[in-house]
Amino acid sequence: MISKETIDKIFSTVRIEEVVSDFVKLKKRGVNYLGNCPFHNEKTPSFTVSPTKEIFKCFGCGKAGNAVNFIMEHEHIGYPEALRYLAEKYHIPIEESATNENPEEKSEREAMFILLSAAQKYFTQQLIDSEEGKTIALPYLKERELSQTLITNFQLGWAPGGRDVFSQWALKNAFSQELLVKTGLSIVSEKDGKLYDRFHERIIFPIHNVSGKVVGFGGRILKSNEKTAKYINSPETDVYSKSKILYGLAQAKKSIRQLDECIMVEGYIDVLSMVQNGIENICATSGTSLTEDQLKIIKRFTENIIFLFDGDKAGQKAALRGLDMALQEGLNVQVVALPEEDDPDTFAKRLKEDEIRIYLKENAKNFVRFRYDLYKDEASADPAKKAVLVKEIIHSVALVNDTIKRSLFLQEAAKVLNMSEQVLHQELRRILVEKVKEQNNVDRLPIALPFVSQEDPQEIKPKDTLHQEKKIIRDLLLYGTREYPGYETVAQYLCSELNEIQWNEANCLRIFDEIQKAIQEQIALPDYTTYIRSGDDELEHFVSSLIMEKHKLAEGWKTFLDREIIGPDENYIPEVQSSLNHLKLRKVMQMIYEVDVLSKEVIAPEKQDELLMMKKALNETKKKLSEEMGVSILGK
Ligand code: UTP
Ligand code: MN
Repeated sequence: MISKETIDKIFSTVRIEEVVSDFVKLKKRGVNYLGNCPFHNEKTPSFTVSPTKEIFKCFGCGKAGNAVNFIMEHEHIGYPEALRYLAEKYHIPIEESATNENPEEKSEREAMFILLSAAQKYFTQQLIDSEEGKTIALPYLKERELSQTLITNFQLGWAPGGRDVFSQWALKNAFSQELLVKTGLSIVSEKDGKLYDRFHERIIFPIHNVSGKVVGFGGRILKSNEKTAKYINSPETDVYSKSKILYGLAQAKKSIRQLDECIMVEGYIDVLSMVQNGIENICATSGTSLTEDQLKIIKRFTENIIFLFDGDKAGQKAALRGLDMALQEGLNVQVVALPEEDDPDTFAKRLKEDEIRIYLKENAKNFVRFRYDLYKDEASADPAKKAVLVKEIIHSVALVNDTIKRSLFLQEAAKVLNMSEQVLHQELRRILVEKVKEQNNVDRLPIALPFVSQEDPQEIKPKDTLHQEKKIIRDLLLYGTREYPGYETVAQYLCSELNEIQWNEANCLRIFDEIQKAIQEQIALPDYTTYIRSGDDELEHFVSSLIMEKHKLAEGWKTFLDREIIGPDENYIPEVQSSLNHLKLRKVMQMIYEVDVLSKEVIAPEKQDELLMMKKALNETKKKLSEEMGVSILGK
């Protein structure tokens, strides 16, 4: 168990905008930060981080919470693991309070991470200390000009020879056979039922997820050997989903964000050689073809992607699909082809850092030019082939969503292809029309109305007081301790006004009770920080979401205000007043409704009179309230 002191230390040190921006590209918006939500797919950013409130909230999918919740959600790890992650990030030593931890008792994913990390350390140890490591593996890496710093940063290692040396070591260290198989590190032979190492006598390249945890490995044999594959990779596992991992991204993300640009290559060694030579904003797909998910991950860090291709044309043609996918994801795509004889590895070794950068700059082509150059020789000799090329280029142009960019690329295409823009435009329009038709048939996107409440629609019943209750609790948590005319604090005022009210929302009731109790007992008032650090998942989520809520005044009498509510709220007095009136009004309306229902059911005449009186009184209160609020209410 992590001690309470350590947890407090973590919470007081962590800065949520820093934690989030390891994964999401954030832009400053007023006092907050805004970015594309990592939890759902979105084109316009609605993911907000508030450094002052220490919380995040996505107005698209509703996810919200503090820095720990963010890491838990993003990395799919438990509370203690998330705390450990943050402690490590901020160099906070962890004090454990008793109870020793048994890997088997932790959640399975966490157990897998522990084994994978232990394996990585084992392989690295083997590289540095073992006889084989020192005499074969290290010299090989040296020959490939990979420095000690690089070996350390990328945690390279050596899997020893023999068929089960690693597996035996792991079993001896209390890792189960089941876990070894589950992580893909070991294989149970079908022939003899014995446990074998997946990786033996290979240089080990650990593969990390974005947050830097080892999820799998690639292993290279030393000498080219036709009988076995040059590389062996971990299989897909619960923690290693190949389509969602990019090799080198954990190490590159900072540089990618700084330079606002990501270079994509193909192989482990390509990444390493480039980093070795000073190009750090680089990652690779490692063995699989590029996927949409990988591009989405890149887009969290930058919108600018540069594909770096080997000189050979066959390879370049095979990679064209990746370009189209990147265009579709809304990325700005550039392509650099290396000199014929080079791959990124040889290229990086030949040149110095600034020479590499200059080459990249001078040879970067947009996708129109790149595709054209790749096919121009064949196309110029054969009009039919040229027609295909034209169509393919326009097809790519049509993938660009931004209308201005799209028309600029169309101009470029006209220039490159030496054709009239009008003709190309016709083709473009045809494709776009097709696309719209397709979309409407297949998966028509639901149209999201701006400013409409994102609550579960079932929750919004005509006489519901949910929003009003939440709004009051929000005011209590934000302004509770501030002065209120005639009272000591806003909290005192609201508690005296709301003493008798019936709460419908359980979390609101709970918070209100606690605040009321604090006032009675004259102890410190809980505020929003109390709740977003309460350790109670539901409450943390509820309060974070509440605090980040934009104004959602009840439906009917006011339009939704699209104004930023987070930030210095100087006008809290009228705001509190208005929230209170809205809640009261809503309650009165609810009571009128209930009286109406009752009077339909009750037949006894004296009761009917009573109900009528009640309704009259309620209607008067309603009138008074609405006059006070300066709004007119249509209907009942
Ligand atoms: P390369 O053959 O270009 O490898 O394959 P490389 O990384 O440049 O390594 P060196 O220079 O030959 O040592 C590109 C990538 O394809 C995957 C690996 O991820 C490799 O980095 N690959 C290749 C495999 O998964 N298995 C293989 O057998 C070969
Ligand atoms: Mn290579």
